Amino acid sequence: MSRAKRKLDHIQYALSDKQSGATGFDDIILVHQSLPDCSMDDVSLHSEVGGLKLSSPFFINAMTGGGGEKTSQINAALARTARETGIALSVGSQMSAIKDRDERHTYSVVRKENPNGLIFGNIGSEATVTQAIEAAEMIEADALQIHLNVIQELAMPEGDRDFNGALERISRISEELHIPVIVKETGFGISKEATQKLNQTSVAVIDAGGYGGTNFSSIENNRQTRKKLFFNEWGVPTAASIVETASSTNKDIIASGGIRSSMDVLKSLVLGASAAGIAGSFLKILSEQGEAALIEEIKFYQEDLVMMMTALGCRNVRSLHHAPAVITGDLYHWLSVRGLE
Ligand code: FNR
Repeated sequence: MSRAKRKLDHIQYALSDKQSGATGFDDIILVHQSLPDCSMDDVSLHSEVGGLKLSSPFFINAMTGGGGEKTSQINAALARTARETGIALSVGSQMSAIKDRDERHTYSVVRKENPNGLIFGNIGSEATVTQAIEAAEMIEADALQIHLNVIQELAMPEGDRDFNGALERISRISEELHIPVIVKETGFGISKEATQKLNQTSVAVIDAGGYGGTNFSSIENNRQTRKKLFFNEWGVPTAASIVETASSTNKDIIASGGIRSSMDVLKSLVLGASAAGIAGSFLKILSEQGEAALIEEIKFYQEDLVMMMTALGCRNVRSLHHAPAVITGDLYHWLSVRGLE
């Protein structure tokens, strides 16, 4: 099966699959403040990751790797959406365009549509330094995401089976590149132990990429006859993964995996993330309701966040990191067992 066809299958299954895992966000209650001493005019949504200034603390996360015309159309629509709302955007894996020059326009279209926006490139941890530089140059990237997807590879019959040397390659890329490197999981969550390994590198940002949203094990199992169902419920829930990473590093943290509302973004920031990445739920709005609806939804997120930050008396993202919250249920249990409470 061609890479482009496989990636189109992923989009279709991601949209049709019931992505109902538990992210852990329901186990967080923010403590209401009756005297917030704050006006909506005082609130700034600005944030910073890896030295890059974001005008909103959430962005469109990597999707639609694989090339082809459908990829090109989705990338163009996402780039216009990012431009209209001022949020950052990551493209999907650029490996197909590194291997086949004819695919490049399906990615570079994002720069055409959004010449001044913040755009992140994307490659896998199998990439070499040369390939990483090529990916960054292809879209004049402001940062480069390196994705970790061990479970998806194992779930695919044609996937990789050898994961040796990834940390070493990530380390070399983050030293050689002149833009920040973001290491991201793709829905199974970065743990404290993996964070400690990344602390040995010059990686600037860690995207927790937790469990509870788009589930690539479930997507692959829907496509295969030899199913590996044991991976469907494998992973660090997103809320737990944010704390696992944030408490083990000085690097900036991005939260992603099952972010489905402005409240999920807010809770991510309270747990210590500097921004949240959203993939599946934005793709669903784009494909079912169109570009204008996605732009409107993102503007609602921005308004919602200003309102909720006002209610909490938090004028900026940094002060949200200290907002009081009560952790209950499975998330409390997870954090207690892991010594992270
Ligand atoms: C993805 N994701 C992804 N990630 C990545 O680093 N490179 C890629 O090429 C892709 N491709 C891709 C395609 C499609 C259709 C989807 C829905 C997702 C993973 C994505 O960035 C994110 O890590 C996960 O989807 C979890 O976030 P959500 O979807 O729960 O918000």
